[in-house]
Amino acid sequence: MSHRTELQDTINDLVDGHRGILAADESNPTIARRFSAVEVESSEETRRAYRQMLLSTEGLEDAIAGVILYEETLRQSDDNGVPLPQLIATRGIVPGIKVDKGKGPLPGAPGDMITYGLDGLADRLQGYREQGARFAKWREVYPVSDYNPTPLGLSANAEMLARYAAQCQNEGIVPIVEPEVLIKGDHSITRSAEVHEQVWQAVFGALQRHGVVLEYMLLKPSMVTAGQDAATAPPDQVAELTLRALRRSVPLAVPSINFLSGGQAPAEATANLNALNQRRADGLWQLSFSFARALQGPALEAWHGKTENVPEAQAALALRARLSQLAMQGKYAP
Ligand code: 13P
Repeated sequence: MSHRTELQDTINDLVDGHRGILAADESNPTIARRFSAVEVESSEETRRAYRQMLLSTEGLEDAIAGVILYEETLRQSDDNGVPLPQLIATRGIVPGIKVDKGKGPLPGAPGDMITYGLDGLADRLQGYREQGARFAKWREVYPVSDYNPTPLGLSANAEMLARYAAQCQNEGIVPIVEPEVLIKGDHSITRSAEVHEQVWQAVFGALQRHGVVLEYMLLKPSMVTAGQDAATAPPDQVAELTLRALRRSVPLAVPSINFLSGGQAPAEATANLNALNQRRADGLWQLSFSFARALQGPALEAWHGKTENVPEAQAALALRARLSQLAMQGKYAP
């Protein structure tokens, strides 16, 4: 592989033992949904203003090592004409890019989904690199039922993640591999643990078949929790079952595991990450975060599309980032 030094440098910048990743890569339909909840219209300009607000937060670099951006944001600039990727890069935050193109049903596997976007990916990655992106993200989703994910769903989704990751490493871009087991439904935490093991084992089998170098990637998984319509499991149990499933499935060559928040409330996701780090034994992977909603939620509510609310919104983001950082050390007190 010709890009080893570059990939290692990016890993060193993203995995430093005390910072996590901010996911700010909502596609246009997703950000429109988030904006409409706070009665803000989604336009190119409101999206630019919102992302500028997030990315110019003072001290963001203290707790955040990388930000996942959306394609449109990579081309946008702040009020002073500074490109948004450059705005963060100059403060020691690595710009990243979401590269998948959404999802739909997987034919032949009722109830399972599959993500689009492999065609032309190499060309797109080269373009994103020129715009400053040094890492990428691709998400596959797994709805849970008594029958899902099916064996076909497990193997097809794992193949997609592996082909994406191999392509990224070929272009000198660190892949974040994101298999998200959805929280939707009333499944038990035991069922969630079973599905997570199946998913991670299928994903790592495929990554190894495709020659992906595990030292040069990050895993962005969901936590093992009960479905959102079932009784919430306590952080200790979430941590115990998540760590057990990880130990059974994820090689130690992976440098960091950066959890998504997946619809958990900010305090819940943070408490669960904290419990994970309190139980984490020495020599295991770094256990960090790559939250979108659990970092941005309170900031978006404070912002409400108004310039005069920017300081309050930035304070809300800085607080969630700092609390998530404390959870990485197992020192978060709600
Ligand atoms: P949430 O933390 O809101 O689940 O988002 C993470 C993410 O990047 C989903 O792709």
